[in-house]
Amino acid sequence: MLLLSDLQDGLLTLTINRPEALNALNSEVIQTLSDAIDAAAANADVRAIVLTGAGEKAFVAGADIKEFADFNGEQGKELAARGQRLLFDKVEQCRKPVVAAVSGFALGGGLELAMAAHVRVASDTARMGLPEVSLGVIPGYGGTQRLPQLIGKGKAMELILTARMMKADEALACGLVNQVVPLAELPAAAEAMARSIMKNAPTALATALDAVLAGYSREGFAAEIESFGAQFETEDFKEGTQAFIAKRKPQFPGR
Ligand code: CAA
Repeated sequence: MLLLSDLQDGLLTLTINRPEALNALNSEVIQTLSDAIDAAAANADVRAIVLTGAGEKAFVAGADIKEFADFNGEQGKELAARGQRLLFDKVEQCRKPVVAAVSGFALGGGLELAMAAHVRVASDTARMGLPEVSLGVIPGYGGTQRLPQLIGKGKAMELILTARMMKADEALACGLVNQVVPLAELPAAAEAMARSIMKNAPTALATALDAVLAGYSREGFAAEIESFGAQFETEDFKEGTQAFIAKRKPQFPGR
């Protein structure tokens, strides 16, 4: 099963279960998770959601590179548009609080998913980043928008342009995550965070979520989808994705 679901006393834990691919988001995972968020939104027994990944090695290591490596620009644009609509916007716009529990790698689409959640609790083993430019592409699931919203433009530029990974302590210091705990304590800490939110008035929580989101423009997300697709037509994209699949270093033309 690609997604594990467990409802305990109002708290729904959704676990992306593809550990052999470090929980990478292929179209099936995205659709399954999207359906689960819809079901949770409609289920009065669910009052908050914890979103996590199976295994300790990765929350999610990104969009599934093997699935899109031979896509053209139009397909790339559709990939980003579909993912944003089906999952990333749906998580952010969910009117029940969503807490991401992050251990290990949260990269590319994985960090983008954690950023779409309302609160992030990380283990001290977490490694976070947007490595897309090292693959010849750019973040396409909202990362160019949500990272600057969370940590400010300057630091976001640095992370996106260097493609480097950040450790948990740096992520905490810049506000990318809300709390860092030892790995063994992550499930309990994420649950405690969710339950400390759930004790408040459900309608007030939903309205507060709406009000916070109302302050952010949607224009940048549409621009990101266009730019993400355009990048698929470049030699850099072909070289970057082929190099990942062949497990070699990319040789970008003109670098
Ligand atoms: N897509 C597809 N498969 C992936 C994957 C991904 N994003 N990340 C890891 N995997 C697969 C690997 O190919 C490998 O599969 P095989 O066993 O079949 O070879 C398996 O998961 C285990 O991974 P590694 O052997 O690479 O593990 P490692 O410990 O050597 O390295 C890692 C871990 C540094 C996270 C490395 O896997 C990695 O760099 N992954 C890709 C990270 C990345 O670039 N993410 C961004 C994707 S693009 C994106 O997300 C676009 C967007 O915004 C829409």
